[in-house]
Amino acid sequence: MRRAVEILRNGGLVAFPTETVYGLGADAADAEAVARLYAVKGRPKNHPVIVHFSSAEDAFEWAREVPQAARRLAAKYWPGPLTLVLKRSAKAGDFVTGGQDSVGLRVPSHPVARELLLEFGGGVAAPSANEFGNVSATTAQHVRGELGGKVDFVLEGGSSEVGIESTILDLSCGTPVLLRPGHVSRDALEEVLKEKVLEKEAGSPRHSGGLARHYAPKTPALLVPAHELDAEIARRGARVAVLAFSRPDERVDYWIRMPKDPQAYARRLYAALRELDGAGCETILIESPPETSPWTAVRDRLSRAAASPAR
Ligand code: TXA
Ligand code: MG
Repeated sequence: MRRAVEILRNGGLVAFPTETVYGLGADAADAEAVARLYAVKGRPKNHPVIVHFSSAEDAFEWAREVPQAARRLAAKYWPGPLTLVLKRSAKAGDFVTGGQDSVGLRVPSHPVARELLLEFGGGVAAPSANEFGNVSATTAQHVRGELGGKVDFVLEGGSSEVGIESTILDLSCGTPVLLRPGHVSRDALEEVLKEKVLEKEAGSPRHSGGLARHYAPKTPALLVPAHELDAEIARRGARVAVLAFSRPDERVDYWIRMPKDPQAYARRLYAALRELDGAGCETILIESPPETSPWTAVRDRLSRAAASPAR
């Protein structure tokens, strides 16, 4: 931990665990360190990063206006898997906001992240610790495998408990807008806010979630309705790897059976996609989860990882 903090202070890059996914951290006040972060990720410069803090009090110093809504949500969900987008203060440079007038703020709950942030003292800019567009990392091993030589230090913290990226809520323009669904659901946000939360317009370019292909494995993946899975396997034969709720099918070499609980599914999702991606198959077939609201965040990630089967 001491080394990790020292590296951050010296403008280096430290990958660290959070309860959602692993982050690749740099001192959010250091333009050069953040530039290196973008270079290592291969991320376009106009994509803003989330800045992480050990407390809401510190986080809100990076916002010039903190609406009551933000305070109420922070009281309820921080530390935790929720990112709030607020109007930025002078502390948030263009190099973390992608030139926008708003900044994404989060106080994570993972004990290793909390210790790092507390010891470091300042804001830590941290996108997910994966190459741009790829599936996020939920173990230190994923990070080492993908970014190993390019980061200065990887803090070990086990498997991420939530497994998918934080919920992002934009509170910078009056009406709350959900930019990315996550573990903290829209219903849960509305319950605290006592007002409607809008969905972001499809294809909004300013956040990665707005890109159609994101969180995607390298092997082409198809999202297949449950009742078509059997026919799709029959059509493609053994060259597929399958992610499904049902028991393995003998015709298929590589099969991962997923839990029927959406939170358990989310926790396993990225490790499973990485495993299937490494199976050397031509296609990954993913059985569509239910169309119900508890599955919203998982469905969002799956639809970005996959296309629909050609008919
Ligand atoms: O769970 C998470 O949020 C993880 C962990 C490490 O905290 N981080 C993460 O970062 O997923 P990243 O960079 O992979 O995704 C952050 C998303 C991006 O889509 C980015 O565009 C959006 O947050 N974002 C950040 N600041 C924003 C802002 N000011 N306005 C709109 N979107 C913003
Ligand atoms: Mg990401």
